[in-house]
Amino acid sequence: MKKIRKAVIPVAGMGTRFLPVTKTIPKEMLPIINKPTLQYLIEEAVNSGIEEILLITNPYKKAIEDYFDVSYELEDRLLKNNKLEQLEMLQKISSMVKVYYIRQGEPLGTGHAISLAKTFIGNEPFAIMYGDDLIKSEIPALKQLIDVYEKYDCNVIGVQKVDPNVVNRYGIIDYEDEKTGKIKGLVEKPKIGELPSNYAGLGRYILKSEIFDELEKIDKVNGEYLLTDAMLRLMKKQPFYDCRFEGIYYDIGNQFGYLKANIEYGLEREDIRGELMKYVNNFNEK
Ligand code: UTP
Repeated sequence: MKKIRKAVIPVAGMGTRFLPVTKTIPKEMLPIINKPTLQYLIEEAVNSGIEEILLITNPYKKAIEDYFDVSYELEDRLLKNNKLEQLEMLQKISSMVKVYYIRQGEPLGTGHAISLAKTFIGNEPFAIMYGDDLIKSEIPALKQLIDVYEKYDCNVIGVQKVDPNVVNRYGIIDYEDEKTGKIKGLVEKPKIGELPSNYAGLGRYILKSEIFDELEKIDKVNGEYLLTDAMLRLMKKQPFYDCRFEGIYYDIGNQFGYLKANIEYGLEREDIRGELMKYVNNFNEK
C-alpha cells in the first residue's frame, strides 16, 4: 500500500462570508489568537506524517506565500536584539515542511482547485485539507483519516455528526452501511427533513489519484466545479469509508465559527485562560 506523503490545501476561495476583511486578508490567514489558521493546518499535516504540501492559492493571497517564506530582515533584527525565542518561532514556520504553490486564476470551485494538483500528486494517494476547516484534537484529524486508509486501502472522508437543524450547510453522507462507515453517496447542502444521515463531510479527505480522471469529466454547477461531483463518480468505481474523527471542528470561514475557535483556543492557553474566564464570567452576570 502506498504511503500518504502529500497534502493539497486549496486556499484560493473568495471568502465572501467573511467580507469585508477578506478583501485584502485571506480568510486562511485570519489568526486564532496569534497564529493563522493555515499554520494550524500545516502543523496538523506535519504531525500526520505529510512530507510535501501544495497550496492552491491566487494572486490576491500573496500574504500566504510570504508567511511561509524566510523573512531575513526580521530574523536578523530579532537576532541582533537577542529576541531568540521569537526568532526560533519564526524559523520554525519556514522550516516545518516543503510547501509548494500553484495559482488558481479564477475561483472556479473546489474541484477545479484540486484538479490543478494533478502533476504534483502523480499516481499517489493523497490528502486534501480545506483551508477554512480547523480541527482541534489530540491525535491530528488527518492522522486519524490516514489510519482508516491504511486499514481498508480506500478513499476516506472525515466526518462528524452535525446538528440536524444546520445540516443544510454541509455535504451529508449517504451510507451503504452506517455501521462499518462504507459510503455510497454524498448530498451537498440537503434540505432539512431530506437527510440521508446526520454525518457531514468536514474538510478532510484521503483520495486515490484516479480522482483526477473524474475531475476532468464533471460539469459546472452554479459556475463552480465541485470536488463532491468527482468523488460521487469515483464512488462508483472504488470504495469510500468515513473516518469519524475525534476533535472539535470549527468552520473559520463562518464568522461565529471563527469567534468560537478564538475563545476555545484562548481557554487552552495557560497565559490567557485565567483572564479570559474572568472576563466571560463577568459578562455572564451582566
Ligand atoms: P469554501 O467554499 O469554503 O470557500 O471552500 P469560499 O468559496 O472561499 O467560501 P465563501 O462561501 O465565499 O465564504 C473550501 C476551501 O476551498 C478553497 C477555499 O479557499 C477554502 O479553503 N477554494 C474554494 C479554492 O481554493 N478555490 C475555489 O475556487 C473555491
